[in-house]
Amino acid sequence: MALAEQAKRVADEFGFGPDAVNKAVKEFIREMDEGLLQEGTELSQIPTYVTAVPNGTEKGLYMAVDLGGTNFRVCSIQLHGNTTFSLTQNKVAIPKELMVAKTSQELFSFLAKQIETFLKTHHEEHYTGFLRRRNTIGSTQEEEIFNLGFTFSFPVNQIGINKGLLMRWTKGFDIADAVGKDVCALLQTEIDALGLPVRVAALVNDTVGTLMARSYTSPGKTGTLLGAIFGTGTNGAYVEKLDKVTKLTKSKNSGDYDKSTGEMIVNTEWGSFDNSLRTLPNTPYDKELDEKSVNPGIQMFEKRVSGMFLGEILRLAIVGLLKDPTFPLFRDENSAQNDVHSTTQIHDNSPLYKQWGLDTSFLSICAGDTSPGHRMIRQTLDKDYGVSAVSAEDAEAVRAIAAAVGRRAARLAAVAIAGIVINTGRLDSAKGTATTEQKEGINPPRGDVELSEDDVIDIGVDGSLVEFYPNFEDHIREALREIESIGEKGEKRIRIGIAKDGSGVGAALIALVAGKLGLSVSPKPGIIWPETRVHIAWAA
Ligand code: GLC
Repeated sequence: MALAEQAKRVADEFGFGPDAVNKAVKEFIREMDEGLLQEGTELSQIPTYVTAVPNGTEKGLYMAVDLGGTNFRVCSIQLHGNTTFSLTQNKVAIPKELMVAKTSQELFSFLAKQIETFLKTHHEEHYTGFLRRRNTIGSTQEEEIFNLGFTFSFPVNQIGINKGLLMRWTKGFDIADAVGKDVCALLQTEIDALGLPVRVAALVNDTVGTLMARSYTSPGKTGTLLGAIFGTGTNGAYVEKLDKVTKLTKSKNSGDYDKSTGEMIVNTEWGSFDNSLRTLPNTPYDKELDEKSVNPGIQMFEKRVSGMFLGEILRLAIVGLLKDPTFPLFRDENSAQNDVHSTTQIHDNSPLYKQWGLDTSFLSICAGDTSPGHRMIRQTLDKDYGVSAVSAEDAEAVRAIAAAVGRRAARLAAVAIAGIVINTGRLDSAKGTATTEQKEGINPPRGDVELSEDDVIDIGVDGSLVEFYPNFEDHIREALREIESIGEKGEKRIRIGIAKDGSGVGAALIALVAGKLGLSVSPKPGIIWPETRVHIAWAA
């Protein structure tokens, strides 16, 4: 069998057709409802205690930190009070050994040190002034303390605006002693050990921050419905009707929260959608990836969708093929077609032979290289993956399989988006979120919007996959059109917009309000947003 045909056979293993998509959407809706009723379900459906998306203007300086899956970002946001603000940020890669550190203190002291470095670099005057006053007069002023929003992108059982217990680690992190602890307290302890003028005022999931930030910048009248991340991990937070969140409203143990908007933002933790594999596809490569992961059996949706895993799925598929002597990939039969007219070779140390050796960015390169001969793919295989003299046929075979892995991820992403759009009833009514009415007339709609603004269902997204994988949104849209209760008409109503780095801004804004209301001093769940207006503008 020719290489191209055999590659197609493997690519077809990643098929996820319209029937499978529709079946998965029904399961997603079932799990959404189940998660709103009780604890311990596949979709965690965590109430965030945030009951509206903010739309206020304030002056002042706020901080945010963001512990994602790959990087730790520290930023400060200066709100100018005239509907704009500037943002200064610093990003460091989280050292791999800290992701699996023996104690949580090792990780959190590293984070506190990054905050210290950031303050010294970007707010030196403020920081040294604070130290001077503390050392000379022995006391400091409340205004000198930065309120900090902590974006912590892992499943947390939120029990207050700046209090949340880690449920489990995801995305390759594994530090046993942190599970069950309040992550804000862990960070505050290390901040205090360094004597920094910083108070952890709010705890936010990155999806919630994305939803907040998008809601400011969204060009329409209807408030944003969903904030979603398709990056190292994947997850979504959406605006739910409060009376559906019965596990909170009927519980005797829940804290106070504002009931006036009748809504609450819920963090779905959809990375764990269908852990029991009722509807998710399960190729031999998915199985192997899961078995060798630090958390087998959980985050099964995430393991098929997000950036941390797609490269590894492709790697396992390629390595599986290389083990098969009848499969002509990277073999001399094809070498006549390569540029250098030498035999194809895979270096013994090729990252292709190491777990996590293939980066998901390679899938983006494959999807982006439509040139005849696939020069980019061949060069990358040579330069980054130790495979020399790759033929055009080899590159085409790899490209076909990579495209199938990426397309399946996008079609699965559509399942989650569709589940939320359908189950919140947004397709039936043109009603927006609590913010909608308040926002009316604030900002003129920006960009060309063909639809009536009342019909738009707005979704904010962020993460490396949506940002860098070519046509990720197109594949999502193709699947959305195939979903029975969405179809072409519904798909057109869904507007997907990037809320770049929104999670940091969202966190700072929540810190702002939490600090202002004094919630951070006496932690108490529930935010009531003041009647103020902010328009976000990005600093260059
Ligand atoms: C993982 C985390 C989740 C986060 C997502 C995106 O799924 O569990 O909390 O939102 O990654 O970063």
